Amino acid sequence: MSPNMPRIDISPSQETIPPVEPCTLVIFGGSGDLARRRLIPALYNLLLDGLLPPNYAVIGLGRKSMTTEEFRITVRDGVVTHSRQALVEDRWKDFSSHLFYVSGENENPHTYTRLKSRAEEIERDLQLTGNRIFYLSIPPSSVASVCEGLDQAGLATKLGNRIPYARIIIEKPVGRDLPSAQAINHVTGRVFDESQIFRIDHYLGKETVQNLMVLRFANSIFEPIWNHKYIDHVQITVSETEGVGTRAGYYEEAGALRDMVQNHMLQLLCLVATEPPYSLDPDVVRNAKMEVLRCLRPITDRDVEHVTVRAQYSEGTTHGHSIPGYRREKGIHPDSTTETYVALKCFVENWRWAGVPFYLRTGKALPHRASEIAVQFKDIPQILFNTNAQQPQPPNVLALRIQPEEGLSLRLVSRVPGTREQTRPVEMDFQYSDVFGRPSPEAYERLLLDVMAGDASRFMRRDAVEASWAWITKILEGWQRQGLRSLPEYPAGTCGPVEADRLIEKDGRTWRTL
Ligand SMILES: NC(=O)c1ccc[n+]([C@@H]2O[C@H](COP(=O)([O-])OP(=O)(O)OC[C@H]3O[C@@H](n4cnc5c(N)ncnc54)[C@H](OP(=O)(O)O)[C@@H]3O)[C@@H](O)[C@H]2O)c1
Repeated sequence: MSPNMPRIDISPSQETIPPVEPCTLVIFGGSGDLARRRLIPALYNLLLDGLLPPNYAVIGLGRKSMTTEEFRITVRDGVVTHSRQALVEDRWKDFSSHLFYVSGENENPHTYTRLKSRAEEIERDLQLTGNRIFYLSIPPSSVASVCEGLDQAGLATKLGNRIPYARIIIEKPVGRDLPSAQAINHVTGRVFDESQIFRIDHYLGKETVQNLMVLRFANSIFEPIWNHKYIDHVQITVSETEGVGTRAGYYEEAGALRDMVQNHMLQLLCLVATEPPYSLDPDVVRNAKMEVLRCLRPITDRDVEHVTVRAQYSEGTTHGHSIPGYRREKGIHPDSTTETYVALKCFVENWRWAGVPFYLRTGKALPHRASEIAVQFKDIPQILFNTNAQQPQPPNVLALRIQPEEGLSLRLVSRVPGTREQTRPVEMDFQYSDVFGRPSPEAYERLLLDVMAGDASRFMRRDAVEASWAWITKILEGWQRQGLRSLPEYPAGTCGPVEADRLIEKDGRTWRTL
């Protein structure tokens, strides 16, 4: 932060908070990792910030047999370890008295009759009005059973936004290719109206991602140069330091393309590339983003070889921890060909972006945890301060950091003070936590509040999910036809395979150092 920039202290009560009505949140998968690490801590933080509705209930549902008391103890540990704000005993006591647990199999119709009578009982006790949100934090294979169970028990009504409302949140991934995504959308669409369905991609709740639209459309300086005349290319990177960890079962079936590119990275690309929407109405914003997906040039058969790279990590070390090769991780097939790294080049074929490559890369077991969008502007002409062809001036880059430290930086060239004519690139840097005086809320906090308020702007609409799967499925089919002579490898703790460097270097460009 510049020393002259005043720190702006914002209390949650100063924010414009959407109105939220009392409601019951039912978490299918309440005994799982996501509920413990993210969802319950997010709700607890909303309570501390005074953003939860005055009256609410949270019902966790899972296969494990547990009493409500045991559930409260389990999720308390999650809050102690993962909450943004520390656990305050009396606030926790109040919060935990609104938490309940019901056990049952998603496939068993009795689960839903028991859930219904328990929900009615709790709602009667807490004087709740019957607004219900069903959060499906479960494997995609269970989504159809839950929708049908809710429908048959009369817990889901296709009522649009009528009160009391019933809304459903679907976790990513929505399917594993176009047909499976269509099947999930079909069953949820049969039971719920599209206005009741919230497909979550938590990247869309992150501060920098929300700020992308503000940056572009609340400042006059960017929009005139946000096009192929001034922008050389865009790089989108999501880099993780961990290996596959405890999620082997899921990851082995998914791989980096499905896990990261299909949802988070394509959504980021849409926000960078979208035309200005004419209003902030959720459907207007989503229509604008949908246009980008429609303009994405398909990567089909032969292109797959030239513009995509997939690889897998081999044994190595990150941050002093040794990581076994992917194929030697627990739960991974020793001959697995699942990619843990993918890099690709794509184009948005419209007038604004004609000829501007978008380079995407993501991987596990890399040296840094970072998510970033970097917009690199064109080189300046070789005159005045840029006459040395051997050492050209570095171009301007606007980098938006999504994690770990949310913020942005702009690379400029500056004169080095002194008597000699010397120039040097400098970074103007801005970090949210420095300027606004408090850490940003977690993405799940923002998104849960959005669902309670019925605001779907930051959620994926059915057509967008299917359009991104259609684009990804072409790459998957291309890979399948291409076959695999050998899957490139990169040692854990290194920046990815040399093939990814070649992908961008053959265009005369390089990946940014994170
Ligand atoms: N964890 C993350 O950071 C993360 C991030 C993004 C998206 N997601 C997505 O969120 C979903 C949940 O992930 P997770 O990490 O929480 O998985 P998890 O730890 O394996 O938990 C799965 C939950 O679903 C329940 N469940 C599974 N099958 C069931 C069935 N047939 N009947 C009733 N309950 C069933 C489990 O109950 P029991 O444990 O009681 O058997 C458990 O509560 C997945 O779709 C995942 O892809 C997770």
